[in-house]
Amino acid sequence: MGRLDGKVALITGAARGQGRGHAIRFAEEGADILAVDICKSIGAVPYPLGTPEELQETAAAVEALGRRVVTHEVDVRDSAAMKQAIDDGAAELGKLDVVIANAGIWTIQPWHDVTPDVWSVTLDINLAGVWHTCQHAAPHLIKAGGGSIIITSSTAGLKGLPFLVPYAASKHGVVGIMRVLTNELAQHSIRVNTIHPSGVETPGGVSGAMEKLIAESPQLGPIFMPALPVPTTYPIDIANAALFLASDEGRYVTGMELKVDAGTTAR
Ligand SMILES: NC(=O)c1ccc[n+]([C@@H]2O[C@H](COP(=O)([O-])OP(=O)(O)OC[C@H]3O[C@@H](n4cnc5c(N)ncnc54)[C@H](O)[C@@H]3O)[C@@H](O)[C@H]2O)c1
Repeated sequence: MGRLDGKVALITGAARGQGRGHAIRFAEEGADILAVDICKSIGAVPYPLGTPEELQETAAAVEALGRRVVTHEVDVRDSAAMKQAIDDGAAELGKLDVVIANAGIWTIQPWHDVTPDVWSVTLDINLAGVWHTCQHAAPHLIKAGGGSIIITSSTAGLKGLPFLVPYAASKHGVVGIMRVLTNELAQHSIRVNTIHPSGVETPGGVSGAMEKLIAESPQLGPIFMPALPVPTTYPIDIANAALFLASDEGRYVTGMELKVDAGTTAR
């Protein structure tokens, strides 16, 4: 018996990193997967995003576990395209029970170097993109008789992590979406929660920019330090937390900010 037998899960940002980790872990537990990713890079984001090949690798990993998968190359910023992809995917897979609004980007700079482009692209993907995902998926969860929405925030959604103003604004913003939807969707037996990872070992945004800025302002370094003696977390740690929230084990858990941060926000 899988913990998600008979469930269908939408995962955004599924080509690689945490999104791929969620897809594989959920498939291991019996879920079919609707995997969405932009699959191309964006000028204002200073590192490459996922590729079509990576999204297909995720799909192959799900299929190797005996589960069905539908992929869509869509930008979460595009509300109409997201609605189409979610409607089509839910029709093909029969329904939708679980949503992981995971797609996100980040840029690192001191407050005075934030450009209008960086501000817009970060808020458009991380906040508006999450909103589009939730808004267009919720009708399918209502139709299914209930479900679980999981939004990937960050420790930057709880704490004033330096050099991340637009990112932190977006990750605090999704907590607002979660809190309101918790109340509005509860009548439909839909639970809504955020996950707050600290650093996760994924391909996204590895640049050394943060290390350089902290070396220039060493008094800010301890803000990022975990309490546990570990250097990072891994996609499997975030996937296991999401699995709890998606499964019936979390059936009375809603409106919660679940930290998977090795104690970073406890300090
Ligand atoms: N890696 C970390 O240290 C860390 C820590 C806390 C929170 N997070 C959050 O976790 C989530 C996943 O990040 P990750 O670490 O797996 O990064 P990642 O860059 O490895 O993966 C993110 C995926 O999202 C996709 N994506 C980006 N913009 C998109 C868009 N507009 N539309 C559709 N897909 C898009 C990318 O193509 C990529 O495949 C993000 O929301 C991120 O902010 C990451």
